[in-house]
Amino acid sequence: MSKFLIHNISELIQVRNEAPELLKGSEMAHLPGIRNAWLLIEDDKIIDFGNNEDLIPQHDEKIDAGGGMVFPAWCDSHTHIVYAGSRETEFVDKINGLSYEEIAKRGGGILNSAARLQQTSEDDLFNQALQRCHEIMSYGTGAVEIKSGYGLTVQDEIKMLRVIKRLKNAVPLEIKSTFLGAHAIPAAFRDTRSKYIDLIVNEMIPQVAEEKLADYVDVFCDKGFFTVEETDRILAAGVAQGLTPKIHANELDYSGGIQIGVKHGALSVDHLEFTGKDEIETLLNSSTMPTLLPSTAFFLRLHYPPAREMISAGLPVALATDYNPGSSPSGRMSFVLSLACIYLRMTPEEAINAATINSAYAMGLSSSHGSISKGKTASFFITKPIPSAAFLPYSFGSDLIKDVFIAGKKIMC
Ligand code: NIG
Ligand code: FE
Repeated sequence: MSKFLIHNISELIQVRNEAPELLKGSEMAHLPGIRNAWLLIEDDKIIDFGNNEDLIPQHDEKIDAGGGMVFPAWCDSHTHIVYAGSRETEFVDKINGLSYEEIAKRGGGILNSAARLQQTSEDDLFNQALQRCHEIMSYGTGAVEIKSGYGLTVQDEIKMLRVIKRLKNAVPLEIKSTFLGAHAIPAAFRDTRSKYIDLIVNEMIPQVAEEKLADYVDVFCDKGFFTVEETDRILAAGVAQGLTPKIHANELDYSGGIQIGVKHGALSVDHLEFTGKDEIETLLNSSTMPTLLPSTAFFLRLHYPPAREMISAGLPVALATDYNPGSSPSGRMSFVLSLACIYLRMTPEEAINAATINSAYAMGLSSSHGSISKGKTASFFITKPIPSAAFLPYSFGSDLIKDVFIAGKKIMC
C-alpha cells in the first residue's frame, strides 16, 4: 500500500463529499472547489483531501502541484477511436462543398473507413487505437467509451470489439465498449437492407453477447442511415441479450431517435442537433442522459444542439468528443468544453459538470469517476498555474495541463 500526497494546489475542482449520480437543470451551474488544497491518494483511489496543512495524514511521497489547479479527469462518453487510417481527403471534399450525406452516398464516409478497417489486421488496428488512447490520456481523459461500427461484417465487428477488450488491459483508462453494427448499411446490402438488420439481430448481437464483448448497443438512428423501425428491432434484440442502449440520434434531422432510445431505456442519446419541445418532454420523463458532441457540429458545420433550452427545461446534459475519422478527428475534451461555452452558451461550470459527473453517468461510472470524492478512482490532472477554472475553456486550444494521473498512475505526456 503506498500513499502519495499532492500539495500546493491553488484550487481542487469538483470536490463532492456525497457525489451525485448526475446534475440537471440549475444544479449544473454549481461547481464546488477547495482553495489551497491537498489531495491524498492510496494506490488507485482518492482517500482524503482538505485545505488545512496541519491535518495532512501520513504519506509515503509528496508531489508539488506548483500552484496549479486539480480537476477530476475528463469522462469521454462517446468515441470511435478504433479505426484504420484517416479521411482528410473527405475533409477537402467538404471544403469544396460536399455535405456529409453526399459523401456517404458516394461510398465515402463510414463505408470508406469500413473498407480500410476490413483490410487491417487486428494487431495493426490495436496499435493505431493504442496511440489514440495515449493521446487522450495526455489531454486529461481518464474514462472513455469506444464503439465498433467500422467493421460492418460479423468478423470485422468482432475484430473491433476484441481490440477494445485488449485496450482495457493495455492502458489504465477506464474503458466501456459499445457494439455499433448499425452504423451504416454496407454497400452489398443497399437493396436488401432488411437482410443486414437480420444479420445484426441474428448473428452479430448473439456473438457479441456470448463473448461478452460489449456493454452497450448503439444504432445511428438518423436520416439516410437507420429508421426508427429498424432501430426498434435492433435495440430490442440488444436488450434481450443484456446490452443497454446508448444511441446516435437526431444529428441530421428530427429522426425519432430520441423517442425510440428513451422507449428502450437508453443510458444516453447522443448528438441531438435536432431537438425540439417534444424531444425535451420525452427526455424529462426518463433517466436517459442527453449527450452533446459540439466538435462534430463544428467540424461538419451543423447547427448546434439547443443546450440552453435543455438545461432551462431541467434536463441534465453531458459532453463528449465523438473522436472519429469522419466527423470529429479530435479527442481533446478541453476544446469540446470551449465549443460548449462559445456555441452552446453553457457556462464554464455547466460545461465542466457535463464533462465529468454527467459524462461519467453516461458510461455507468457515477460511483467511481467524475468527481474528487473519497473512494473514487484517482484519475485527475494538474494544470499549469491558471487564475480560475473558467480559464480552461476560455483559452481554447491552449495546452494548460501539466500532469495527468490515471487510476493513481502518472501518465507520461
Ligand atoms: O458519431 N454519426 C455517426 N457516426 C459518427 C461518424 C462516423 C464517421 O463519419 O466515420 C459520428 O459522427
Ligand atoms: Fe459517434
